[in-house]
Amino acid sequence: MPAESVLMRFVEGEGTADLDAYVQAGGYEAARHALTTLTPESVIDIVDQSGLRGKGGAGFPTGRKWKFIPKGAPVKYVVVNGDEAEPCTFKDHMLLERAPHLLVEGIIITAYAVGAHTAYAYVRREGYLARERLRQAVAVAYERGFLGRKIFGTDMDLDVVVHTGAGAYIAGEETALLESLEGRRAMPRQRPPFPAVAGLYGKPTVINNVETLSHLPAVIRLGPEAYRSLGPPALFSVSGHVRRPGVYELPLGTPMHELIEHAGGLREGRRFKAAFPGGSSSAILTAEHLDVPMDYEPLRVAGSMLGSASLIVMDDTTCIVRVVARAVGFYKEESCGKCTPCREGTYWLSLVFDRILHGRGRMEDLDLLAHISKGLNGTCFCLLGESVPPSLDASLQHFRHEYEYHIGTGRCDVEDRLPPQHFAARSTGDPGAAAGTPGA
Ligand SMILES: Cc1cc2nc3c(=O)[nH]c(=O)nc-3n(C[C@H](O)[C@H](O)[C@H](O)COP(=O)(O)O)c2cc1C
Ligand code: SF4
Repeated sequence: MPAESVLMRFVEGEGTADLDAYVQAGGYEAARHALTTLTPESVIDIVDQSGLRGKGGAGFPTGRKWKFIPKGAPVKYVVVNGDEAEPCTFKDHMLLERAPHLLVEGIIITAYAVGAHTAYAYVRREGYLARERLRQAVAVAYERGFLGRKIFGTDMDLDVVVHTGAGAYIAGEETALLESLEGRRAMPRQRPPFPAVAGLYGKPTVINNVETLSHLPAVIRLGPEAYRSLGPPALFSVSGHVRRPGVYELPLGTPMHELIEHAGGLREGRRFKAAFPGGSSSAILTAEHLDVPMDYEPLRVAGSMLGSASLIVMDDTTCIVRVVARAVGFYKEESCGKCTPCREGTYWLSLVFDRILHGRGRMEDLDLLAHISKGLNGTCFCLLGESVPPSLDASLQHFRHEYEYHIGTGRCDVEDRLPPQHFAARSTGDPGAAAGTPGA
């Protein structure tokens, strides 16, 4: 944790799902301060100066996004993106389960800043506990007067509705989420107009991720400079071949190897092989990138991205071909089918991977994979389809020999090189012991 933890201190121990525990830890004081002493414009300026960027994947500066909301519009909405279906991203659900009032307080601050009186929190169906904890938090916040009419004795009215998502990855894409909220199938909308201008029911809408909004109480409490001097802080979901997978709060810019050490390091006797630094949509990095700072710009320069800050670690027991095949399979399943490159491209990639992994691959398949991947770049209607090329291209670049071994021998290079006791461990049910995907 950083010197001052802004989120995890509300999560650790018993957590602060209980309102009294949250209030005792200083909860709702930032919202009270904002509503009773700051103007909406100054709240937006503070958030802008704090350096807070969206935690849902795109990293757009939060204050700047709020500035796009037209001031004079009579009806505006706040929408919370709690879909969190990106493989190996689990920070939002943790916040909702253990510290849901952080989000409720963040919603109050946001609604005040942009002049909204209704907020919708969209939480996916599978996140049952997260949704229930948020519902309870909202209900008790109404009872205590933190939501509803004349909040903190001011003229501010705010209603919060918790909405159950239907469990599709594409529903996390902000315009598809709006479609789903309005009762239609989750499919992305044409942009422009952007949601800030014409979002939910055609009204100006701020859409932010659960973690993004949960940072706001700290931003207001500490002020922009002090908040920024903490990194700014961020939650990292760390998974795969580490001893202690979990959520870690650390300053942005923490080197990748340090993050791995926080998560307990690699398993006994294993070597680092590769990692997705920002979820399965980010390009795979190799051991030469272990020092790369986990921040937007350095990861971009390294050829990858921070995304939702989900580090997936793979040690030397990992077959990269299987990992990428699995990621491709996920995007194929989750493609909404609206546009041809994504719908057909992910399907054909899956077929090619299937034959490579079943000993029927041909060397020309490597060019075919690269060709289909190129066809996805810049041609898809939304970023789901464009999530496939980064890891596929990086795997073909850095681990081509593993593909060639699969195709040439019909077997897996990694499995062939692992000692026999590894397979003994697999037969005893140790999930991390076999070559394949981390945590498979
Ligand atoms: C396919 C796809 C899935 C997404 N899933 C999520 C998600 O589950 N949660 C999320 O906050 N953002 C998700 N996003 C990003 C959102 O479209 C949007 O950028 C984000 O909610 C904005 O909030 P932020 O600025 O606070 O990050 C997804 C984007 C795409 C293209
Ligand atoms: S890129 Fe994929 S998920 Fe996005 S609109 Fe096209 S088909 Fe749907």
